[in-house]
Amino acid sequence: MQVISHIPELRRVLQSASGRVFVPTMGNLHDGHLALVRKARQTGGCVIVSIFVNPLQFGPQEDYGRYPRTLEADCDQLEKLGVDVVFSPTEAELFPVAQEFHVSPPSIAKELCGEVRPGFFRGVATIMLKLYAIVLPSVMIFGKKDYQQLHIIRAMVNQFNLPVRVEACETVRARDGLALSSRNAYLNLRERAQAPELYLGLGEVAERLLSGERDFRALETRATEKLKATGWQVDYVAVRNAQTLKTAQEGDAHLVVLAAARLGGTRLIDNLEIELHSGKV
Ligand code: PAF
Repeated sequence: MQVISHIPELRRVLQSASGRVFVPTMGNLHDGHLALVRKARQTGGCVIVSIFVNPLQFGPQEDYGRYPRTLEADCDQLEKLGVDVVFSPTEAELFPVAQEFHVSPPSIAKELCGEVRPGFFRGVATIMLKLYAIVLPSVMIFGKKDYQQLHIIRAMVNQFNLPVRVEACETVRARDGLALSSRNAYLNLRERAQAPELYLGLGEVAERLLSGERDFRALETRATEKLKATGWQVDYVAVRNAQTLKTAQEGDAHLVVLAAARLGGTRLIDNLEIELHSGKV
């Protein structure tokens, strides 16, 4: 496995690699990331994993400075999984001059997480376009845990006609249901014990939808209130059309329930897809 931090060297190494499969990450890898890497391995071709904590997607009050950086441990894990190349550029390598061009994402980027994190998806889309142009993969793999991010990246790829296939991996959860996330490390013991409530709340909404309830707003409010009652600060619980991410309408068959909420200082997100006709969650 080669660990490369310079763009020209990466391009040189990748020159002979056809069928590049790319897993972009911000490092501090957990089993959720490793599932993406395993999927990349199965896809075949040269597997490239990037590790870069992208300053463009953090707001001024957010955790950019304290975001866990664990490059050595990450590389050990990636080597065991048979990754071909790790691209871990410095900030100066990716931004030799301040980034003046940005990808302006569609209006859905102002809703859900975008409402509380203005500029987040602009930062994600911009770095993804840069990383795409550097790696030139034929496949890129993302986790469904960041459902809105996946939606926006798919839209960017489609609308800019980028010749790359976007694949999605199911969310990996701890035994108690908590979706794996690097930010789980911020939780203290008490918060960690309480954290699965977010997933349980989504599960309750899903069950009510499957048993025929269709008052989406009432379901959102009930789930929000229940979380608030146990001390969560809720950014949103939202029932959306899984394909468009627009507010769910009566008759939509494929839904997704998304939530973001804070426990103490830690903001967690999660979601659950629901197929109303087949009854699948
Ligand atoms: O999901 C992430 O880890 C990041 O948002 C991504 C896609 C690597 C862009 O920085």
